[in-house]
Amino acid sequence: MARVDVIRVKGGARLAGDVVVGGAKNSALKLMAVALLAEGRSVVSNVPRITDIAIMAEVLRRLGCDVTLDGTEAIIDVPAEPGSEADYDLVRRLRASICVLGPLLARRGYVRVALPGGDMIGSRGLDMHVAGLARMGAEISGEHGFVIASAPKGLRGAKIWLDFPSVGATENILMAAVLARGVTEIDNAAREPEIVDICEMLNAMGAKIEGAGTSTLIIEGVEGPLKPVRHTTVGDRIVGGTWAYASVMTRGDVTVHGVRPEFLDVALDKLVTAGATVEPGDNQFRVRIADRPRGVDIVTLPYPGFATDLLPMALGLAAVAEGSSLITENIFDGRFMFVNEMVRLGADIRTDGHHAAVNGRERLSGAPVRATDIRAGAGLVIAGLCADGVTEVGEVHHIDRGYPNFVADLAALGVEVERTDVPEPTFDF
Ligand code: EPU
Repeated sequence: MARVDVIRVKGGARLAGDVVVGGAKNSALKLMAVALLAEGRSVVSNVPRITDIAIMAEVLRRLGCDVTLDGTEAIIDVPAEPGSEADYDLVRRLRASICVLGPLLARRGYVRVALPGGDMIGSRGLDMHVAGLARMGAEISGEHGFVIASAPKGLRGAKIWLDFPSVGATENILMAAVLARGVTEIDNAAREPEIVDICEMLNAMGAKIEGAGTSTLIIEGVEGPLKPVRHTTVGDRIVGGTWAYASVMTRGDVTVHGVRPEFLDVALDKLVTAGATVEPGDNQFRVRIADRPRGVDIVTLPYPGFATDLLPMALGLAAVAEGSSLITENIFDGRFMFVNEMVRLGADIRTDGHHAAVNGRERLSGAPVRATDIRAGAGLVIAGLCADGVTEVGEVHHIDRGYPNFVADLAALGVEVERTDVPEPTFDF
């Protein structure tokens, strides 16, 4: 009999207490790829203990690196000549492994990486990654499910305008540009704190990047070789934001440690509009509310806008707030996939294209539901805390990909929660 992982929560909980958030998944994964740019031992610390990091470690091992994951450290020994291929069996499990494209092209002049394909949150193209690298002189083709890039004579600096401030494209182009001949300018670049983190590690290795955190990145190519470094991953603002929204949805009082509140400016401001009190501190913040939150309209946008990864939390807040809210998703075409699961919990949500109109309900209604991706999974569990009775969220391996201690953290904040394997019946033909 097949088994599915289930998290079961009892509704009516109020979250209270402290929660410590570790390093950002979406930074740590890329920092591990950054290490490829220098021969020798780099150490990335404050990495979250999640499967994605283990898969990235395996991607690097297959490229000839020696990788040890020790607690929250990734110790990466990079050979003089790393491999140049990332296979589908790993890339399909970790879309982010596409970020080895830029550094390997820079170091090896040739790279062959499997195309990751789409996923539950949307179609997710690579056109901007490819166009940017092509601008720098790479020849790029696609065959048999792989993207193949070569630049036997090395890459050259170029002026690159991104149609959209794509996080992944900015990263790949950035990592390729640091060893290119001449200056690369990326305009309309992504500005996320995770991009700043990558730039800081690259600069410490000897790269010359200016403008991190702004829309224009200027990268003066260096001849190299870059040197290996030790780098600490920035705190996970999405995990921090998840706890902030969970606090308000459950009329709680939570202090989040390990995340700088300024990285969540818009998200926390929305909570203040909803009636919460937010006390920002040094790499921590406290979020509390005594009464039922009020509905607020939220629009996701590239950083510093409201993060798409917190969309499920925005919908969750709207679902239990007083009044109506309009939630708009602008980044991924499939983010609303999980709305049907929220409706199973009694949420009053109607979607039209990339808008969701939500009428808040005092209480949701516990039911079995299914996680469709990392953030939707966490959002459903938290919505279950605001429901009558028990909510059982299935396929929670998705949550494990982004939240290292989710169940333990919930329990420490006062939730009655358990995780079990529930047998799923099979039907023979
Ligand atoms: N896009 C293109 N062409 C491209 C690149 C992107 O059309 O060449 C589109 C995508 O299809 C998508 C949008 O642009 O609709 C945004 O994509 P972006 O490249 O900015 O995102 P990403 O690098 O694929 C990262 C995070 C996501 C996060 C987004 C947006 C990682 C591993 N993933 O994805 O995180 O939602 O940025 O902030 O860094 C998650 O952690 O759960 C997650 C999905």
